[in-house]
Amino acid sequence: MSTAAAAVADANRYAKSIALYERAKRHMAGGVNSSFRLGGVPVPLFYARAEGAYLFDVDGNRYIDYVAGMGPTILGHAPRAVTQAVAASLADGQLYAGGSEAEIELAEMIAAHVPCAEMVRLALSGTEADQAALRLARAVTGRRKIVKFEGHYHGWLDSICVSIKPALNAAGPESEPVPVAESTGMSPGAAEDLIIASWNDVVALERLFAARGSEIAGVIMEPIMCNSGTILPAPGYLEAVQGLCRKAGALLIFDEVITGFRVGLGGAQKLLGVTPDLAVFAKAVAGGFPMSVLAGKRAIMERLVGHGVMHGGTYNGHAASVAAAIAAIKELARDGAAVYRGMEALGKRLMEGLKATAAKRRVALQVQGLPTVFTTSFSDKQAMRNWRDVATGDAVKLAAFNRALQDRGVRVTSRGCWFISAAHTSQDVDRTLEVADAALATMVK
Ligand SMILES: Cc1ncc(COP(=O)(O)O)c(C=O)c1O
Repeated sequence: MSTAAAAVADANRYAKSIALYERAKRHMAGGVNSSFRLGGVPVPLFYARAEGAYLFDVDGNRYIDYVAGMGPTILGHAPRAVTQAVAASLADGQLYAGGSEAEIELAEMIAAHVPCAEMVRLALSGTEADQAALRLARAVTGRRKIVKFEGHYHGWLDSICVSIKPALNAAGPESEPVPVAESTGMSPGAAEDLIIASWNDVVALERLFAARGSEIAGVIMEPIMCNSGTILPAPGYLEAVQGLCRKAGALLIFDEVITGFRVGLGGAQKLLGVTPDLAVFAKAVAGGFPMSVLAGKRAIMERLVGHGVMHGGTYNGHAASVAAAIAAIKELARDGAAVYRGMEALGKRLMEGLKATAAKRRVALQVQGLPTVFTTSFSDKQAMRNWRDVATGDAVKLAAFNRALQDRGVRVTSRGCWFISAAHTSQDVDRTLEVADAALATMVK
């Protein structure tokens, strides 16, 4: 299609979003409320409603939605069990600035499912719960340094917003990466308390611990890296990191903001059989309502009481979010967690179908991850291990593929991450594969 014809097609398909974007830009910076939404094409789209597996934009276009609110809507959009529980809770008020029995019920449920969750604290966002985990690690160990891996995301605040997607020409050698700030305006000292490392590389981490183990308060990681590709830890890697932490007296922190309640009820720690000292959950835990959880071993979590470790939040334990989380976890656990088996079967079929379509079209599309969360990328690498591999992917092709999917009614995240929900059906997968075939066809011409 010529550029002029494409512009006309956009103006037709996305007319109302384009008009709303012009209006939004007048009073919202960039027309959006998160920097991650700035890159929408042809403009950041505006949505009117969402139901089950589908999202409807203001122009009436329907999307089979694999963005899933960036992961949280694991039961689909507006799942009745969750929305009814929230509606019922509203009749009793919204915010007590004090305890409720529902909070205790939720804490008990999380403790029953998550191996490390002897105790929990509730909060609202993954970013802030990650900060609480870092503070606790420093308080418990009396040390300053946190080991953070390239490509992993733990929120947008200064103390950790480093080396998330660093340009390779600025990131130093893979064996000893240098910190790269992800934003301007950050405190120049922000990265001073971080040591940046390459994930999935035991030898490099052993070297680091041998040299600096006594300075390290904790190691934080996504136990399955979902923010840059969807990459599983190499066999034995998590156990090795845990061993290094234990030997050095440092804490192992799993950021399960994405993997928690998504890859299974007990998160990646249960799936992979390694129990961290602390973990952070968010996203899927409340089925799309704001909720995060700091979870951890009793001896560590008790430092939040009477040892001067501060953790606050006006909205922590918000009644609607607590009601949503209880309802969501009950749904996920129903019938022996049958919902996961359904999502896994569908996700597997979708992954295999995408691989087969790409092979048929002779396109180097990589499909990597787990059935409930996986990533598509354009790379000649057969398997990705860490950010350095992910960074070799062809971003232009990925954007073109995502755009071709969007124009045909399938929505995936801009980084190529697909989230399966319990609302997706076999027909949705069939339709998605037809659309993917058509999208790839546009790319081989
Ligand atoms: C692994 C991980 N940690 C932390 C965060 C930050 O969570 P929030 O956006 O709720 O602050 C995210 C968000 O995507 C995430 O994926």
